[in-house]
Amino acid sequence: DKGVYPYYMLKEVDEQAIVTRTLSQYYFDDENNIQNIDTKIIDAMKAADRLYIVAAGTSYHAGLVGKRYFEQWAKIPTEVHISSEFAYDQPMLSQKPFFIFLSQSGETADSREVLDNITKQGYPTLTIANVMNSTLTREADFALPLLAGPEIAVASTKAYTAQISVEAILAHAIGHSELDLKLELAKVAVEMQVIIDQKEDFKAIAESALSGQRSAFYIGRGLDAAVAVEAALKLKEISYIQTEGFAAGELKHGTISLIEEGTPVFALLTQAKTAGLVRGEIAQVAARGANTIVIATKELAKAGDAYILPEVNELLMPLLEVIPAQLIAYYATLDRGLDVDRPRNLAKSVTVQ
Ligand code: F6R
Repeated sequence: DKGVYPYYMLKEVDEQAIVTRTLSQYYFDDENNIQNIDTKIIDAMKAADRLYIVAAGTSYHAGLVGKRYFEQWAKIPTEVHISSEFAYDQPMLSQKPFFIFLSQSGETADSREVLDNITKQGYPTLTIANVMNSTLTREADFALPLLAGPEIAVASTKAYTAQISVEAILAHAIGHSELDLKLELAKVAVEMQVIIDQKEDFKAIAESALSGQRSAFYIGRGLDAAVAVEAALKLKEISYIQTEGFAAGELKHGTISLIEEGTPVFALLTQAKTAGLVRGEIAQVAARGANTIVIATKELAKAGDAYILPEVNELLMPLLEVIPAQLIAYYATLDRGLDVDRPRNLAKSVTVQ
């Protein structure tokens, strides 16, 4: 039930702070120790020489973020693959691979096809899904829940942030990161709420930057590039504004020729190491007439930026920076008079290959 909300998507965006808190309470006990993750999962992952994350759409994008946690905290090389590609073009595998399937529904046919293939090859598998008792959770060796509650809107929002949180928790459980992740996730939840409470800012940004536009861009580097592809998918799938999300450094290798007077270019700026380079890229598109909309953390922000993000651990910033993108997509779609929850040509659960 949507309750007071006009659309499920807005309700589900709003629920992200609660879901994050729920996950930290479920996966950490009062002494900050990991709980509810079978030690067999941890052992199997520790025994692997490489992790393969396999997923589709938004879940694939959550994998792009999670890769960083598994590599930086768990110290296991990690590849992220699109299910429909992996299914018929299986890459050469390492000696001891471990497979992670990410899915909201647990029923995505492309991912099921890969799980079938991999099970036949005898490799260990874990599904992280929102719908437990789904095909992907039942047929994998192990399963972990996202605890996001039902996601009804076709555009996935809270499942994405829940997937990122569970990947972080799992990588933290395997590795020896110094981070107090339970505390960090509690901070994330608080700051998510701060952003959610500023929705009117994103309504204004969406209306001024996207009204009447036919195309848009999201750019960033590193983790921000990973979020840029998700931000672009959210905007294009519900507003039908053709949106590309990509690594900012790639602009000069071709895409910059698409920039015209007024083209909206959203820049995500949360990673200190590359902030100077991204600023340069923002200046380059602005010089060619782009309307640049910069979403930056306080530390990296400059006068004229469109929105200042609250700050948490840099690796966890995707959990915050995606929310403006979700809300911008929501309001741009409302502005066009479209059905936010049910974009044309799409189904919530894609059960055909
Ligand atoms: C986009 C979206 C889709 C799904 C994809 C995978 O907003 O929802 O891209 O992420 O179809 O679905 P699941 O996660 O159910 O496997």
